[in-house]
Amino acid sequence: MTSDAGLNERLIGRDDVNDLDAILAITNTDVDEVEHRVRADSDAIFTWDYSRSRPALVKLYDKAKTSQWNADDLPWDTEVDQEVVARNNMNQNGLGQNMETAGTPFENWGDKEWQALAFESQNWTLSQFMHGEQGALMCTAQIVETVPWIDAKYYAATQVMDEARHVEVFARYLDTKLNGAYPVNAHLKMLLDDIIADNRWDMTYLGMQIMVEGLALAAFGFMHQMTTEPLLKKLLRYVMSDEARHVAFGVLSLQEYYAQLDAAEIRERQEFAFEAAVRMRDRFMQQETFERLGLNVKEAVKAAQGAPDRAIFQGLLFSKIVPNCKKLGLLDAGDGWLRERFTELGVIAFEDWSDTSEEYTLLDEVAKDRASA
Ligand SMILES: [Fe+2]
Ligand SMILES: [Fe+2]
Repeated sequence: MTSDAGLNERLIGRDDVNDLDAILAITNTDVDEVEHRVRADSDAIFTWDYSRSRPALVKLYDKAKTSQWNADDLPWDTEVDQEVVARNNMNQNGLGQNMETAGTPFENWGDKEWQALAFESQNWTLSQFMHGEQGALMCTAQIVETVPWIDAKYYAATQVMDEARHVEVFARYLDTKLNGAYPVNAHLKMLLDDIIADNRWDMTYLGMQIMVEGLALAAFGFMHQMTTEPLLKKLLRYVMSDEARHVAFGVLSLQEYYAQLDAAEIRERQEFAFEAAVRMRDRFMQQETFERLGLNVKEAVKAAQGAPDRAIFQGLLFSKIVPNCKKLGLLDAGDGWLRERFTELGVIAFEDWSDTSEEYTLLDEVAKDRASA
């Protein structure tokens, strides 16, 4: 419990960041919903200044134009045995037979049960990737309208196309290679709604490009390393090529914008970064998979969160976010308020890992494949 208890209540709706009952009480209450509306009341801004005055964004836009790829070109004819894939990935999230299970809902579990959990976890994870990608599609379309700089409008337009392709590939993979997609996780949905509804254009960037996509880049990288399934591996690698550019877009744009904000305005950005981090940490508790398997959800989440490999996995998800927040000056502004929050969340150790403002050239697999073709 921190001295910020009242503040936590305002930011995340509970005093104690780790209050498991409060976290699990947030559930998706309409899993059959087909349409979800969010009111956005931000101004759409025309600019009559067409001068190309932001060279870093020009470079990024030029890169985006030549790194487009077609989802149809992935090896969709690959036979995927999802049971084998799930089994191979069984321990990738720190959930599995290496957990201490005495006195937990996983006690006495055998291969069959662990296999079922691996299977559900994979469907769940890829489903949340897909929903998050749609969030990115909506946010970038919004940025095209709301950002006042022409170079950023150009770049954001390329990202809209990238995100459409990402939704497409995850939806197609779930539909044709796996079965049992999950509805959007309530914590993720809450975060996406908050990002869309905020009428300050830079908050869209912070929520999406820095926080959601920063986490996605780490999560995709992790799954890309672990998976032995060639189609999924290729798909993730291509998506990562795009995501690295997206995060760079966020870092480069916000660096310029934050330089002229006052302390109170920066504090609001720190608070939003904290809120987003908590929502994403909560979503990775993957409560819906335990529910689908008929387990006591609270006990299962508690046991899973206590697994040592799980803590490492969940920490790694923040390995891009923390250095990028540092680069933007958010970590240490205002007496290091965000540094303290990230310390409480157990992710501060990543602060000196490489940030993502330049990484996109290294990660451009599409260009590499074309050069070697
Ligand atoms: Fe994406
Ligand atoms: Fe993205």
